[in-house]
Amino acid sequence: MNLIESIIERAKADKQRIVLPEGTEKRTLQAADQLIRDGVAEIILLGNPVEIEQLAKKMELENLDRAIIVDPKSHDKKEAYIDLLVELRKKKGMTPEEAALLVEDPLYLACLMIKNGEADGEIAGAQNTTGDVLRPALQIIKTSPGVKVVSGAFIMFTKTPQYGENGILIFADCAVMPNPNAEELASIALASAQTARSLVGVEPKVAMLSFSTKGSAEHEMIDKVREATRIAKKLNPSLQIDGELQADAALVPAVGASKAPGSAIAGKANVLVFPTLESGNIAYKLVQRLGNAEAVGPVLQGMAAPVNDLSRGCSVDDIYKMVAIAANQSIGMKQNK
Ligand code: ACO
Repeated sequence: MNLIESIIERAKADKQRIVLPEGTEKRTLQAADQLIRDGVAEIILLGNPVEIEQLAKKMELENLDRAIIVDPKSHDKKEAYIDLLVELRKKKGMTPEEAALLVEDPLYLACLMIKNGEADGEIAGAQNTTGDVLRPALQIIKTSPGVKVVSGAFIMFTKTPQYGENGILIFADCAVMPNPNAEELASIALASAQTARSLVGVEPKVAMLSFSTKGSAEHEMIDKVREATRIAKKLNPSLQIDGELQADAALVPAVGASKAPGSAIAGKANVLVFPTLESGNIAYKLVQRLGNAEAVGPVLQGMAAPVNDLSRGCSVDDIYKMVAIAANQSIGMKQNK
């Protein structure tokens, strides 16, 4: 069984409630139909029930009658959610009038349902930008206790089994924080290690990437990576982490041995932490396109409940997998509690 198959099986064994706010989007509906058919998750669709029903009929989807459908414009918990949103955002001066408008936005409603314990996770982004998916989640669900920042990891299934864990690597942050400081970068490293453990099932070997290996160059950008490595080690002394390392030193044993002799990570890394969003986002897309790797994600890490973003170019299969991943994250979070 490959990794994705085992993630799907784990989801089936302990069904989680996953809310899909883009409930009238066709790929989302098709994925929802398949997820219900296969028993991967309990699906909550947000959208106009009549429109969803008409689409289901037109698309010949036979399982959607088993989805829970909530109309953001009219449902019996609307007042309760307005109160919850006002309470959560009172320091920001949110008024009941503003909250009344926001709770009709499916992206806000999905997060409020999770916050209120009525759903375990959310997948969106087939229609909405990353920023629009993330903002309500950051405002309402917020980070897990003790976590500084939310970041986005990709599970990269490469065609190069000699690297990472039989070709599988975690890349982060590829989706959220444009320019993390050293503390934030350390937090991203710790969260990425946790993602490697909980989703890939491997002991993380974290490389803190830069354009320098162990002092081969000097620059303030390198200082940030060194400082982040130091902070991450202090926060979790048992974590296998090293930096600063160039990508080749992190991955290739011979290069690692020559550029970073004695490093326990050089040449063996299975988690690559990038110094900025620019480098992480560009790197994962290059490996995906030029290296023909499968990139699954972004898996958001550090959030108090799983909310995962999709690319607007996503396929039905991408949505299916991301729901299974969110379910696994939720199962892991419940076990950790
Ligand atoms: N972790 C935790 N909390 C955060 C983070 C973070 N990384 N970023 C923002 N927040 C919090 C803020 O503290 C704030 O909380 P508050 O309102 O309770 O005080 C709230 O989220 C909103 O923050 P803002 O800074 O006002 O929100 P902003 O409009 O800047 O949006 C966002 C934040 C959406 C994450 C922004 O940084 C962003 O757009 N990042 C890039 C996303 C992107 O485009 N990625 C690339 C594409 S993805 C891909 O290719 C796979």
